Amino acid sequence: MSEHTTQERAPASDYDRVGGAPAIRAVVNRFYELVLGDDRLAPFFAGIDMSRLKRHQAQLISQVMGGPVDYEGQELRAAHADLGIRPSDFAAVVEHLVKALEEAGAPPDVVSHVVDALAASQSDVVTAED
Ligand code: HEM
Repeated sequence: MSEHTTQERAPASDYDRVGGAPAIRAVVNRFYELVLGDDRLAPFFAGIDMSRLKRHQAQLISQVMGGPVDYEGQELRAAHADLGIRPSDFAAVVEHLVKALEEAGAPPDVVSHVVDALAASQSDVVTAED
């Protein structure tokens, strides 16, 4: 790779750095495996269409990572409005996503960027108290 090319190329997005669509699909699958395996969280997902949820979650994470993908789901506030999610539920979900990203070998700065983006959505998702 010439110096010239290096200088002109835009820095790789987080999306590209983790391996793009297939890598994010794998992370999302692992994430919901961890979530559904957690007795505190599984009841929230009873009766939910998981393939639709995974598709939307993958779109959202891809978008947050600067990928060429648009989120097509509902507003997060509307999607979670009736669920009675507490701060501790939120923290547990974030923990599982961090684990799934780390297991997939996502670089630490990518993990913290995603966590920051999720933390910013807490007031849209959490509607109950511990
Ligand atoms: C950490 C931040 C979170 C983000 C970024 C997030 C993201 C999403 C997304 C993108 C959807 C899909 C919406 C759609 O299909 O239109 C969704 C739905 C859902 N989320 Fe979350 N979520 C978060 C936290 C949580 C937590 C903490 C819980 C429960 C403990 C939860 C439970 C659910 C459930 C049950 C649905 C399905 C709702 C339905 O289809 O009626 N989410 N979430």
